[in-house]
Amino acid sequence: MTSHTGTALVTGASSGIGAAYADQLAARGHGLILVARDAARLRAAAERIGQETGVAVEVLAADLTRPADLATVRDRVATDARLALLVNSAGLGPLGPSLDSPAELYDGMLDLNVRALQTLTFAAARAFADRGRGAIVNVSSVVALIPERFNAGYAAQKAFVLALTQGLAAEIGDKGVRLQAVLPGVTRTEFFDRAGADIGQIPAEMIMEARDLVAAALAGLDAGETVTIPSLPEADDWQAFEAARFHLGPNLSRRVPAARYGFG
Ligand SMILES: NC(=O)c1ccc[n+]([C@@H]2O[C@H](COP(=O)([O-])OP(=O)(O)OC[C@H]3O[C@@H](n4cnc5c(N)ncnc54)[C@H](OP(=O)(O)O)[C@@H]3O)[C@@H](O)[C@H]2O)c1
Repeated sequence: MTSHTGTALVTGASSGIGAAYADQLAARGHGLILVARDAARLRAAAERIGQETGVAVEVLAADLTRPADLATVRDRVATDARLALLVNSAGLGPLGPSLDSPAELYDGMLDLNVRALQTLTFAAARAFADRGRGAIVNVSSVVALIPERFNAGYAAQKAFVLALTQGLAAEIGDKGVRLQAVLPGVTRTEFFDRAGADIGQIPAEMIMEARDLVAAALAGLDAGETVTIPSLPEADDWQAFEAARFHLGPNLSRRVPAARYGFG
């Protein structure tokens, strides 16, 4: 189980998956620091969660695409010795073909989905490694695995989140820091409204409730998973996928190109 004494900082805590993390982590006894732009919404959530669970809940309103706000949150992550868990859930993405969205949108997405997540992840990784304990949960997406099926720019950013999490797990996993990438499929949140899309167009059997997604992700964290795909029935399927990837390893860097390209 996650610690019942440490504080959890949750980005994107004002709605959807981040809000579900806030509720479920408080129910586990974590104090909370809630981060998003909508301060009024965060304050309402903090009051409700505090009353329901008795844990301390603080609001840290921030636009993570603004360098000054990001620095404030980063510094808090780096210096708050009570912090035991970072959940990076803040994120957004467009639906549909990449070229249907304006180029500026991808810059803003990079700032939130990639730059902010990386900044907070490294700040937490350093602090947690120094203390020898802590956990970092990064919300990626199943589209990291199937970029052909979704907006390419968004899928690439979510692939970044997966690779960062797996790579860091290999680098600092032995320092008492747990890292987990969570790969949701379609989840009922405000994500689709914000993208100007109708979730009603998606078959109901493909849509998971945010509370179920987070409950499964926390079970995966408890089980020590580095990658959690809540909808995937067979863990063996993921293991086979990873085994195929590592099978390439010995041949990914060699002095001469392969014979099939006319060498050798
Ligand atoms: N829903 C899905 O089907 C799905 C599937 C796979 C992955 N995901 C990922 O899940 C994560 C959570 O999304 P969600 O589905 O829960 O969507 P959501 O309900 O729209 O929540 C997004 C959260 O991000 C916050 N946010 C947006 N821009 C921000 C900014 N500039 N600075 C700080 N916070 C910001 C929002 O709060 P404010 O507006 O108050 O700032 C909100 O709390 C995202 O990383 C998303 O890519 C979602």
